[in-house]
Amino acid sequence: MSRGTVLITGASSGIGEALARKFHDEGFDLVITARRTDKLEALKAELSRQDVTVIGSDLASNAGISAFIEELSPHANTVDIVINNAGMMVEGNFTELSDDDITRTISLNITALTRITRYFAGEMKSRGHGRIVNVASVAAFHPVPGMDLYAATKAFVLSLSESLAENLRASGVSVTAVCPGLTKTEMVDQGLAATLPPFMMSTVEEVARETFDAVMNREVIRVPGPANQIALTWAQHQPRWLVRGLGGLAARFSKN
Ligand SMILES: NC(=O)c1ccc[n+]([C@@H]2O[C@H](COP(=O)([O-])OP(=O)(O)OC[C@H]3O[C@@H](n4cnc5c(N)ncnc54)[C@H](OP(=O)(O)O)[C@@H]3O)[C@@H](O)[C@H]2O)c1
Repeated sequence: MSRGTVLITGASSGIGEALARKFHDEGFDLVITARRTDKLEALKAELSRQDVTVIGSDLASNAGISAFIEELSPHANTVDIVINNAGMMVEGNFTELSDDDITRTISLNITALTRITRYFAGEMKSRGHGRIVNVASVAAFHPVPGMDLYAATKAFVLSLSESLAENLRASGVSVTAVCPGLTKTEMVDQGLAATLPPFMMSTVEEVARETFDAVMNREVIRVPGPANQIALTWAQHQPRWLVRGLGGLAARFSKN
């Protein structure tokens, strides 16, 4: 017996993989996607209690997004929850980013999420129900010198999600922005992870658990973890120049 079907992008590792396990354990069928289909197939073999469909995709180009949406279309009317989780962050100075780094980051973090959201918002509106989850970041709330492009893409995700949450409210479709802080995954520098006290670093299981609760409660914004909530509340009550300046100091300090 299934409670519904969840589409999760970026399910081959990290937060997306943990989300797949959580929703499977809660009785949902899954449609999972990423580039590394070997990892998705291995996950599917483990998650045998519910139906799992694997679709390979490279969402960092318009052509890749179109191909994914086309392959997804036979399953689209069965999807109850969409989780736009796939994301990337390119390391290095802003001035040294290549054209390809910029195009792929914006395509994956912004364009793919927006096109998949538009596709399902229409589907779900006509059905009168559905839930969309967009994985942003605490970096969405203020500029982060040193992670300039990444933080700007996440600010886009938060803004779009909040606006659509209101826009679609009466249609029975909820939109939730999940904004994790530092979380131990492939995306995070493992050397940095080892130096931080545990309360500053979430586990993927914690993020998945909080995301599940937020989706089921149709919350608009969820910041997983008390330490992240306290830090954000503090920052939101400071002048913007101070938060920006402290971010700049931290970026200069981490380069030395
Ligand atoms: N870790 C953190 O501290 C943190 C904090 C805040 C927010 N987040 C956000 O959480 C989300 C998940 O990140 P994570 O930390 O779990 O990192 P991760 O382990 O690197 O996972 C990223 C996922 O995105 C997929 N992906 C990457 N490029 C792709 C592409 N071109 N096409 C399709 N899928 C692609 C990856 O799969 P393949 O490589 O197999 O394609 C992988 O499944 C991201 O949106 C990230 O920005 C992370």
